[in-house]
Amino acid sequence: MATLLITGGAGFIGSNLVQHVLDRTADRVVVVDKLTYAGTLLNLERALSDPSLVFVQADIADERAMSAVFADHRPAAVVNLAAETHVDRSIDSPRPFIDTNIVGTFVLLEAARAFAARLGAPEGAAFRFLHVSTDEVYGTLGADGLFSEETPYAPNSPYAASKAAADHLVRAYGHTYQLPVLITNCSNNYGPFQFPEKLIPLFVTNAIDDVPVPLYGDGQNVRDWLHVVDHCRAVDLLIDQGTNGDVYNIGGGNEIANVDLTHQILDTLGKPRSLIRPVADRPGHDRRYCLDTAKLRSVGWSPQVAFAAGLRDTLEWYRANEWWWRPIKEQDSDFKSYYQSQYGRQ
Ligand code: NAD
Ligand code: DAU
Repeated sequence: MATLLITGGAGFIGSNLVQHVLDRTADRVVVVDKLTYAGTLLNLERALSDPSLVFVQADIADERAMSAVFADHRPAAVVNLAAETHVDRSIDSPRPFIDTNIVGTFVLLEAARAFAARLGAPEGAAFRFLHVSTDEVYGTLGADGLFSEETPYAPNSPYAASKAAADHLVRAYGHTYQLPVLITNCSNNYGPFQFPEKLIPLFVTNAIDDVPVPLYGDGQNVRDWLHVVDHCRAVDLLIDQGTNGDVYNIGGGNEIANVDLTHQILDTLGKPRSLIRPVADRPGHDRRYCLDTAKLRSVGWSPQVAFAAGLRDTLEWYRANEWWWRPIKEQDSDFKSYYQSQYGRQ
């Protein structure tokens, strides 16, 4: 029985990945999560009743804690998802993005390097460090074209720059120390348990309460949406079948302008489009992302969730799970003061 170490496993993608792995394998899963504003054990409620899950509350930037995690649990593979993830927060307050995304990834790499150096064959040959990153490292596209794995990095926000820095460190550890690393760059995810600061859950939960939805700029920015379960399937596949040292784009190919997505959300919920409140644009707002995923498809992956059905199910999930999001929106003081300042930016 192999052990998979998942950092950031109490967040949106992490908790979906934990459940995906527990449902489909006999692997033991060790979650390391600091439980920041974005992480909660409520996301792991079902998983925590599984004896194959171990939860460790720790900061990936804590050297001692990370050495202890490797020594205690001896993972066969690591998936690094722990990060500060919200672009707007990185614009208002970049420091935590440097601390977690760059320094934290560095500390985790050092712990993994020390651990892997002591592994004999065959464990050493099989060890994997899969670093989950974002398409935002590539910068922005105009009306045409796609980002490929060869597109030069040109990150525009402090969030994207911190992820790009981490990607470079991961790549360097593969090149210099032969740590068996993989990097994945994924497009916008949607699905259950996404913190209600991101476009889809924010707009859905506002609309349920007949609260206006703040659409940035002209609403014509385009994102490439992927259901979180399809992201989990890709990560799961690449841990087994990805080539060490390689980079893989993961994207849904579902390009949609924010205004059109907002109309779809409001129409599906039966709410009036007059709930849209145009607000000042995000500073440095990337215009369009879309990924060429031919490389990942050649490994045997393709997205399984059609966007229309996935979005409908996701809206249904938020409608049915107010117990999950309402306390976050009402009680989290960071979230409340943060959104008051956002709505003030007009
Ligand atoms: P999230 O914000 O929902 O969750 C992040 C998790 O990391 C939380 O549980 C948080 O507590 C934990 N965390 C933060 N700092 C930590 C630290 N110092 N030590 C340990 N744990 C810490 O994020 P998400 O949307 O699930 O994203 C997960 C990963 O996927 C991130 O690396 C992100 O950059 C990447 N990604 C996300 C998307 C997306 O659309 N959400 C797309 C591409 C890539
Ligand atoms: O592309 C992958 C990235 O997707 C991930 O790396 C990030 O972690 C994740 O947060 C996401 O970044 P975005 O900035 O694209 O997601 P967000 O949901 O914040 O915004 C999506 C689009 O909607 C973007 O063009 C900004 C716009 N937007 C967002 C919010 C929160 C609005 O118009 N109004 C809003 O209130």
